[in-house]
Amino acid sequence: MNILVTGGAGFIGSHTILELLNEGHNVVVLDNLYNSKLTALERVEELTGRSVTFRELDLLDVHGMDKLFSEHSIDSVIHFAGLKAVGESVEKPLFYYENNVTGTINLCNVMNDHNVKRMVFSSSATVYGNPAESPLTEDSELSATNPYGQTKLTIEHIFRDLCRSDSDWKVSLLRYFNPVGAHESGRIGEDPTGIPNNLMPYVTQVAVGKRARLSVFGSDYPTHDGTGVRDYIHVTDLAKGHLKALEHLEQESGAEAYNLGTGNGSSVLDVIKTFEKVTGKKIPYELTDRRPGDAAICFADASKAKKRLGWETEKTLEDMCRDAWKWQTKNPDGYN
Ligand code: NAD
Ligand code: UD1
Repeated sequence: MNILVTGGAGFIGSHTILELLNEGHNVVVLDNLYNSKLTALERVEELTGRSVTFRELDLLDVHGMDKLFSEHSIDSVIHFAGLKAVGESVEKPLFYYENNVTGTINLCNVMNDHNVKRMVFSSSATVYGNPAESPLTEDSELSATNPYGQTKLTIEHIFRDLCRSDSDWKVSLLRYFNPVGAHESGRIGEDPTGIPNNLMPYVTQVAVGKRARLSVFGSDYPTHDGTGVRDYIHVTDLAKGHLKALEHLEQESGAEAYNLGTGNGSSVLDVIKTFEKVTGKKIPYELTDRRPGDAAICFADASKAKKRLGWETEKTLEDMCRDAWKWQTKNPDGYN
């Protein structure tokens, strides 16, 4: 298949492209490189021995996207492109709505014009808001607690309406839990700019000596050790979920949501202990106040993806820590 991958130079996109190329698909990438480097794609080419077509292009550039669709015969789109920093979305809501929501509407309009109506979309567990209970099923209540989350929720609604209006459209809404880790080669991985907001990149930066210690946000949650519980998923397992969703698209009738998680919850202290065990590195940490907006517990019921897509995770928390550490040590300054 010829697949257009938006945001393909980013963390999850680059790992997914690697799996697509290994399965024999042809890949065209659209990315404005706002939060990524072309090096990621060069390394994917190196790892697979195959090439990708890259266009530095913005979702807000309708004319550019129209030209891209005219030049390439696209069968399906995997849509990763978007902004994802929760804090920044609170400070710059218009920037987030325009980039994520308007950008997606532009993409869908161009797809409509070129009669391309197959889409796998990067949604997020953030659409469950601050959940009262886990495991979360796809039918759990949806809400948003910040502008970033609202963009994902809005885009999900747009796809549902679009599919209702035109039965030729088939969309998979993939709700990722907490993607971490890196490709086992250590050649591609997550490259956050500045101080990481997320746990795993912060842990690896402490381990490599870039940061003095980790702040554990909250130790009085109603969890087994008082720290927050999440469903960490290896980015390679997540990438493979996209291939399964793509293969299953023809059988969908409209827009269908899938949780992509392991179904297991791990606490912050579980992550620290596992990381220390597999790497032999000590992670100095201090227990601090809760981070505003954080849920106590959030993990998936991933049985729908298993049953319908034939997908389930294979990698363990140990694999996630080992591979994140391999990427960090081989690339102390990311792709720079
Ligand atoms: P990322 O920032 O590494 O990748 C996103 C890519 O999109 C980047 O390469 C960026 O340059 C590009 N991009 C952003 N806006 C664009 C625009 N207007 N035009 C063209 N390119 C644009 O992020 P990621 O972690 O790979 O996430 C991919 C998708 O998955 C995002 O939509 C994100 O919201 C979603 N998601 C991520 C996580 C996570 O923890 N990483 C969790 C849930 C959902
Ligand atoms: C965050 C985002 C969420 C996004 C997800 C994946 C917030 C409020 N939520 O979720 O919208 O979909 O990332 O990108 O930003 N922790 C620490 N110390 C740290 C960092 C994190 O103790 O320095 C804890 C958190 O309190 C949480 C866990 O580690 O319990 C995981 O945090 P993080 O990696 O930021 O992911 P989420 O909070 O689940």
